[in-house]
This record gives sequence, C-alpha cells and structure tokens, in this order.
Amino acid sequence: MRVNYLNFTHQWKEERKKLLPIITNILESGDYVGVKAREVVKFEKRLKNFFSSYPVTVNSGTDALTLGMFGIGIKKGDEVITTSNSYIASTATIIHLGAKPIFVDVLPDQNIDPKEIEKAITKKTKAIMVVHLTGRSCNMRMIMKIAKKFNLKVIEDCAQAFGSRFDKKLCGTFGDVGCFSTHPLKNFNGMGDGGFVIAKSKKVQSYISKLRNHGLRSRDEADHFGYNSRLDNLQAGILNFRLNTLNGIIKKRRAIAKFYRNNLDKRFIFCPPEKKLEFNTYHLFVIQVPERDKLKRYLKNKNIDSFIHYPRPIHLQNMFKKVKIKLKNTEDQSKRILSIPTHHNLSKKQIKYVVETINDYYGKKNSPIRSF
Ligand SMILES: Cc1ncc(COP(=O)(O)O)c(C=O)c1O
Repeated sequence: MRVNYLNFTHQWKEERKKLLPIITNILESGDYVGVKAREVVKFEKRLKNFFSSYPVTVNSGTDALTLGMFGIGIKKGDEVITTSNSYIASTATIIHLGAKPIFVDVLPDQNIDPKEIEKAITKKTKAIMVVHLTGRSCNMRMIMKIAKKFNLKVIEDCAQAFGSRFDKKLCGTFGDVGCFSTHPLKNFNGMGDGGFVIAKSKKVQSYISKLRNHGLRSRDEADHFGYNSRLDNLQAGILNFRLNTLNGIIKKRRAIAKFYRNNLDKRFIFCPPEKKLEFNTYHLFVIQVPERDKLKRYLKNKNIDSFIHYPRPIHLQNMFKKVKIKLKNTEDQSKRILSIPTHHNLSKKQIKYVVETINDYYGKKNSPIRSF
C-alpha cells in the first residue's frame, strides 16, 4: 500500500466539477490582479465575518508577517521574542525589519513556553511572536497576560493554524495581528502563494491595506512607500470555494489525529495530548520517537511518506553561527520529531497501515486497533 504525505491530485479530482467553472469565470473576466478584484473583495468580507476582525489579504504568509509587524510599528533595534523550531520565514521577517529575534524554548508539545517569555524580556522587548506550530494553539491566556503586564505587542504566526482555537477563541484574534498563509501545503490552501493578516484595529488594517499595494490611497496617490503584495483574484476565488469545505477537512484531520493518538504504541511514541482548552486543526501530526531517522527509512521502505518539521532549528542555521544559543527542548525535539500523513483524503485502510507499520517497527506486532 502507498501512503502519500499529501494528495493534491485527489483534491483536484474531488473539486474539479465545481471549481473549474469558477476558475474559468475568473479567467474570462480578465480581472486578475487588484485590491478591488471581485473575488478578493468577497474573500475579505468572508474573512471579516469568520474572524469578527479586520482582514487584509496579501501575497504570502511571509508577507503577512512582514506587513503585520510593519503595521504595528516593529522597527530597527526592537527585540521580538519567538521560537526557533519554526519555518525559517517567521524569523526572517523579524530580521528584515531590522529587529532582533530573541529565541526562547518550547514545551513538550513544541509550542512556546510562556514561562520562558517572561525571563527573556528586556527594555528593548517590543513584541512576542507566537507560532501556533502544527495547528496546535499556544496558551494564549498566559501569553496575553504577559503581554499586557509588560505592554508588549503580540504577533500570531497562524500560517499552520487556520481554524485552531484556544478557549473557543480563534487563533489570530488574540494578538495585535494574526498572520496566515494559504500556501498549497496548508489545510486552507490555494493553488499558489497567498496569505492574509487579521488586524485587531481598523487603523492597523487600513495601514496594512495600503502597504500591500505600494502605499497607494488611490490610483495615483500614495501615502507611504509600500510593497507589491496583493493576493490575486484567481487565488481568492479558489479560497472562497475552499472555505466552504474547510470544516469537513478539519473534522477529518482531527479524527485521524485521534486515531493515531489512540493506537500508536505509547511506550515508544509520544504524541502531545490535546489539552483541555485547545482545539487543534492538525496541519501536521507530529510524533516524537527514539531512532527517528531509522523509523523514517523503515517507513519509506514500506511506501509511507514522512517529513521532519524542522530538522534544524533556526538558531542552529548558518546565519547564527557566531551566536551561541542553547535551547534544550527545541534541540532534543528536532532529533525526535516526525510528521506522518494526516491529509483528509487518507482512507481508513491507509491510516491503519501507518499505525501498524510504526508499531511493528517498535515491536508491538498484531496489537488490536481501536476504531475511529
Ligand atoms: C510557521 C510558518 N510561518 C510562516 C510561513 C510562511 O508562509 P508562506 O510560505 O505562505 O510565505 C510558513 C509557511 O510554510 C509557516 O509554516
């Protein structure tokens, strides 16, 4: 049996009948790029309803972070507390603004440890950038308390966490800005690059909205030197369509996660539990295991895809060669983490095969499988 990590071809087959006419319509309209393009305007309206907040669509999750931080005034010399076990873009955006990333360690579930945040605060600290890694919500209650106490801005990197919640509240709506990616690999995905910012204030929304379109107020008048970071009409159309089916996808991912958690052999495999106030959407399902690389090779021989998100934490990348930073949990986890398939097109047979194969590797053969 073959188990792909993702299956875009299957997703297209599933959607083709309904989505192709939408794509054709957009192509025939000639309305391709522009902040007033029909599907873009419609998408922003829907995001506004979904988040009850102030959205701005942009060209990628990376741009969402850059413009989001620009919008709330992060500038040269500011310190931004964040984690190192993220996609490189989270930290890159801090660096490109001339600010300084201050890395703190993470909890067993890979998310930022709120207790470490407080220890890292200095006079220069301006903001906390949390990353809701794998679609698991950070403890936003504790984090917002710290931010309030020290008067810090909060940026939520929600690139992997559309629809995730903490204490029933959507990730992205706690901080000053929530920054999302709609890259094809995400649960809520387009067919090209894309993203959006959710701003807490209308003023910030209005500023970012101009920034993403060359700072323009009107066709020929600019208020700022901005960027070219518009979401195109075609991606917006695809996202408008996929927003309708997203609930089902999240439900399926959560069911797969539950099945893995119930059936993987706990003696060898650590699956961080879903804590009481969390509602996680499982962009990734990450197990933490001994002999990770050997297991990965074993799975490959059994035709099961797996990935490592991320094998080298950012503070150990070449750019930080001269700085000695020690993050024990982050570094330990980077040697044990493995992302196993969790996409919504997996069949029950495939999911069982993944569980049996991993359990077999650790020697728990023929154990009874608990149902969904
Ligand atoms: C945690 C995190 N932050 C930021 C990004 C950047 O998003 P994009 O690829 O849309 O620029 C990603 C995307 O992979 C991500 O996973």
